[in-house]
Amino acid sequence: MQIQLSTAPLNSLETGALAVIVPQREPRLSGPLAELDRATNGRIGELVKAGEISGRFAEMTLLHQPPGLAAGRLLIVGGGMRDCGPYEMRRLAGAAARHLAAKGVRQMVWAVPAGAAPAAALIAASIEGVIAGQFETARYKQEPAPARRLEHLTLHSASTGPEAEAAIARGEAIGEAINLARELANEPGNRMTPRLLAECARQMAESAGLECDVIDENRARELKMEAFLAVAQGSAEPPRMIVLRYRGAGARPGAPVLGLVGKGITFDTGGISIKPADGMEKMKYDMSGGAGMIAVMRALARLRPALEVIAVIPAAENMPGGRAQKPGDVQIAMSGKSIEVLNTDAEGRMVLADGLTYARQLGATHLLDAATLTGAVAVALGTVNAGVFANDDAFYADFESARARAGEKMWRLPLDEEYADQIQGTVGDLLNTGGRWGGAITAAEFLHAFAETTPWIHLDIAGLAWLDEGKPWMPKGPSGVGVATLVELALLWAERQAGAAGMI
Ligand code: BES
Ligand code: MN
Ligand code: ZN
Repeated sequence: MQIQLSTAPLNSLETGALAVIVPQREPRLSGPLAELDRATNGRIGELVKAGEISGRFAEMTLLHQPPGLAAGRLLIVGGGMRDCGPYEMRRLAGAAARHLAAKGVRQMVWAVPAGAAPAAALIAASIEGVIAGQFETARYKQEPAPARRLEHLTLHSASTGPEAEAAIARGEAIGEAINLARELANEPGNRMTPRLLAECARQMAESAGLECDVIDENRARELKMEAFLAVAQGSAEPPRMIVLRYRGAGARPGAPVLGLVGKGITFDTGGISIKPADGMEKMKYDMSGGAGMIAVMRALARLRPALEVIAVIPAAENMPGGRAQKPGDVQIAMSGKSIEVLNTDAEGRMVLADGLTYARQLGATHLLDAATLTGAVAVALGTVNAGVFANDDAFYADFESARARAGEKMWRLPLDEEYADQIQGTVGDLLNTGGRWGGAITAAEFLHAFAETTPWIHLDIAGLAWLDEGKPWMPKGPSGVGVATLVELALLWAERQAGAAGMI
């Protein structure tokens, strides 16, 4: 898709469709909308008065051949009650693009309103939304419907210059990374085994210019990654610990090294503690955290921030079988801590335990993991917010700024020794489940025991990794949640380093 910026008057833009946001609260018509209303001889005002345009979130009103405008169509997009920040902007731009593309429109001008956030953040979010909205899920249909996609996107914004140009590059890299994460996550278990995921990571690394190391089961054994291997041992598919490394030019010695760890369970049957059949097919998405980390690394390779980032993705298939681990088994993790396996379906935390230990060993000074870890987080926060845990307030503050800039919803949940008490072992150090109450938190406390005192953030994305129902801005299927926030965090750190270097 071609993307450009324009500051020309809205009525002068020749394009397939000009899309503008109308708020739900009064006054509906101000700024550029008032301008368009005048240009169209009061058309928009009439529709507002008649109640046909209410401004309800993602309401679409399409006018053909609007008088007074050079555009072929005018799409009026309801903006809802709230000020539009990056979160809303991503959705509205995605919904508009999908609405138009479905009708065969190929070019859109998207009017970025002066809003609740800096123009650059709104520009980037708009692009991310449009790119993410064009994602195709029907990969295996013999006769796929003809692709109807937007080919040209023009962002109309009062702000131009280097910041806006950088926002375009960022939005494009993040939008495409979100879709890469979704492509990987969307592959069925038989076509995205640990070995195939490692192959995808290796190919991506080669073309993007990243370092890649794939640890097979033999090396994993030498490295004593027993928690990781234990999860994989029931499967005929061998596991892979995937390591990607980005070394940004200009990263100063002694600067923080970000260690990303993504859960890469390519299919989670639950193992011997097997899951019910109903909905089990969704467990092909259990590598969404790992897919997200691969995608983040590709975005960083494109955007080249001055910073070092390591991604570790423990990839395994969790299966029952004659060699599978059993409830009651004890595994010694790479860090030396022993784990009593009460439930083989609590496998994510086991593979992450060794992933976190390994990332620390490779030199990560800060750890950030993402995982479809617990059903309990979805009970607590639903499908609206991802759960965030942090053992370090300064690191969390940076993460929170990045999250706000990226426009994703996440909510911090507590860590506390009293929750950790629930997973103290009887014959070993740790239990892999903490009982019924506070399941997302006891899972986080389990990981905490492996992050130890290294500043660490844990994202539980189980409620948001995929959509069961399509939305106007996104088809059902994998969502790519977390990718935007993580890329923004890396960019934020690199900017800060550059600032600090400038002060010397
Ligand atoms: N992959 C699942 C978590 C999950 C469940 C993600 C539903 C998305 C939707 C994870 O491995 C798991 O099975 N967790 C168990 C933990 C329990 C056995 C302590 C769970 O949440 O039930
Ligand atoms: Mn499980
Ligand atoms: Zn799982």
